Amino acid sequence: MSEASSLSAVRIEDIGRHVGQEIKLRGWVHQRRGSGKVAFLVLRDGSGILQTVGVKGELADESFARLDNLPQESAVIVTGVPRAEARAPGGYEMALTGVTVVHLAQSYPITPKEHGTEFLMDHRHLWLRSPRQNAILRVRATLIAALRNYFDSRGFVLVDAPIFTPNACEGTTTLFETQYFDQKAYLTQSGQLYMEAAAMAFGKVYSFGPTFRAEKSKTRRHLIEFWMLEPEMAYATLEDVMALEEDMLESVVGRVLEERKEELKRIERDTSRLEQVRKPFHRLHYDDAVKLLAEKALPFEWGGDFGAPDETAIAESFDRPVFVHHFPTAIKAFYMERDPDSPRHSLSVDCLAPEGYGEITGGGQRSADLEYLEGQIEAHGLPKKAFEWYLDLRRYGSVPHAGFGIGVERTLAWICGLEHVRETIPFPRLLNRLEP
Ligand code: 4AD
Ligand code: MG
Repeated sequence: MSEASSLSAVRIEDIGRHVGQEIKLRGWVHQRRGSGKVAFLVLRDGSGILQTVGVKGELADESFARLDNLPQESAVIVTGVPRAEARAPGGYEMALTGVTVVHLAQSYPITPKEHGTEFLMDHRHLWLRSPRQNAILRVRATLIAALRNYFDSRGFVLVDAPIFTPNACEGTTTLFETQYFDQKAYLTQSGQLYMEAAAMAFGKVYSFGPTFRAEKSKTRRHLIEFWMLEPEMAYATLEDVMALEEDMLESVVGRVLEERKEELKRIERDTSRLEQVRKPFHRLHYDDAVKLLAEKALPFEWGGDFGAPDETAIAESFDRPVFVHHFPTAIKAFYMERDPDSPRHSLSVDCLAPEGYGEITGGGQRSADLEYLEGQIEAHGLPKKAFEWYLDLRRYGSVPHAGFGIGVERTLAWICGLEHVRETIPFPRLLNRLEP
C-alpha cells in the first residue's frame, strides 16, 4: 500500500523515464469506465493524457471504491507503476496503487459529445482543458518562442511599444478610442512607428505584443485583439524585408514541425505542405497578381485591395507562401515609400500563406522624406501634432528603413490548419464576444 506523500510527483510527459517505478501523478479525471473488478481512469495533467488501471484486490478496497464515483474533471492524486503499452495513446499505461480525491467536480458542462461553437466559446475557460485546445496552444507557445528566438539570435533588440497611443498607425477606421485622463487615447494598432524610432537608436529591433483593431468584419481571419511581432531595420529596403521574412518563416515553421510533431498529429494536421516552406518564396508584383486574377476570371480591378477569395486564388498558384509586392500607394498606409520609377506603386509587401489562409505578414519600406510625409499626414486626414515626434525621425539622420509585422494568430491558424482564428488565442476577442 503506497503513501502518496512520500513519492515525488511526475508529469505525464515524462512518464517514459519512470517505467517499472512507483510514481505519483497529480491531475484531473478525463474519463472513467469499467466496472466489477477493473476500473479504467484516464487522467490528464496538462502535460499529457494517461490511461490508468485499477484492479480490485491489487488496489486497496477504499482506493478502488473511490474510483467508482469520480465525475469528469474531478481533481485526483494517484500513485502507480507505469508500463509500456503499444496500444495506448502516448505508448504507456499505469497500474494504480493508490487514489486520493482532492476535489469532486460537479457535473461538467463539456462532455465527450459534440457541442456547438458558441457553447464551447462561452465555456472557453473550461474548453482550454480539452486535448485539442491544449495541442493548439502548445503549438502557439512554440511558434512565439521560435519567432522571438529567431530575432534574438540575429542581433535584433527587443524594444517594447506602448499600448496607449496618441495617434493612428494603420488608418483611422479601426481605432479603439479610450479616455486618457482629460485627453483621448487609442489602443495601439501596431508598434511600427515606435519601432522606426527604435531602429534609428539600435539599428535592428523588434517588438512583440498585443494590438487592437475595431474591425467590424466578422470573418474567420479577424480578431479584435491579436498579437504581432514587428521587426524594423535601419538602412534596409523592400528586398531586405522579403529576404528576412522568407528566412524567418522557413526557420520557425521548421522548428514547430520538429518540436510539436505530437500536437500536430493530435489535431490531425497534414504537415506535408508545411514541409515545403523553403526559401526562396515566389515574388509577385501587384500588377502581375492582378493579371493572374483576370486569368482566373475573378472580378478584380487594378487599384483595389485583395479580398479573401483573391488571396486564396493567388496563393493556389504556388506551392509555398508567396510575396505580393508593390501595392498601389493609394490603398496603403501613409508611411509607405513610393517606387521611385512608378510613384503610384508603393514599396510594400504582403506574404500570403498557402491553403486559403491569406495574408500573414504586412510590411515594406518606409518613406524617409520629411516633406512627402507631411503631405501624406495631411492627405490622410491625420492630426499633424500627434505625428511631430515621428517626423523628427526624418529631421535627424533619416535613412531608408523597412520592416514588417507578422500576426501570430493567422500564422498559427495556417500552421495548425484551423478553420477559424478563434481557436488560436486563449481568450479570443471577437466582434460579438468579450467573454469569458
Ligand atoms: O498588415 P498589417 O495591418 O500591418 C501593420 O500593422 C504594419 N504596421 C506592420 C509593420 O509593418 N510593422 O498587419 C500585420 C499583420 C497581418 O498580416 C495579419 O497577420 C495580422 O497582422 N492582422 C490581424 N490578425 C488577426 N486579426 C486582425 N484583425 C488582424 N489585422 C492584422
Ligand atoms: Mg495588411
